[in-house]
Amino acid sequence: MTNCRILVLNGPNLGHLGKRQPEIYGALGMDALGSMVEETLGEAASRIELSYFQANGEGQLIDRLEQAWRDKLDGIAFNAGAYTHTSLALADCLAWIGIPCVEVHLSNILARSDQPLRRQSLIGLNCIGVIAGFGMMSYTLAVSALWQHWLKKNS
Ligand code: DQA
Repeated sequence: MTNCRILVLNGPNLGHLGKRQPEIYGALGMDALGSMVEETLGEAASRIELSYFQANGEGQLIDRLEQAWRDKLDGIAFNAGAYTHTSLALADCLAWIGIPCVEVHLSNILARSDQPLRRQSLIGLNCIGVIAGFGMMSYTLAVSALWQHWLKKNS
């Protein structure tokens, strides 16, 4: 039985989760994700291989996405941070690599009405869906969605 290989990819300013403005982004770090996925998905979690990468630079993120394409990964849970709202380069990359990608946000970008710029997503143009507003649970939900998407294609 093959496993579902998912990359959890984080963009700029997401290297210190739990420490960065916890009132907005929550108190949990990425190290919490593995056990949250196990708790949420139970047995299925043993069929999901998570890998993690964070970079502050756009080019490094593109290099990692291209690596995911070479490795033929099955899914990407991608929190592109502020690049979400500005990066046509990342959107272009997602378009050609063709790996199912879920856009992830810790905060609910639609509800941040003091900062309307955050309501726009360029990377979302080439994602299969978006999950925002649930803190670290947003990543768990994204992994779960990618797993269901993969199961549908592979059963
Ligand atoms: C974020 C929302 C973005 O607007 C912001 O630039 C981030 C984090 C989130 O997870 O809520 O860096 O992607």
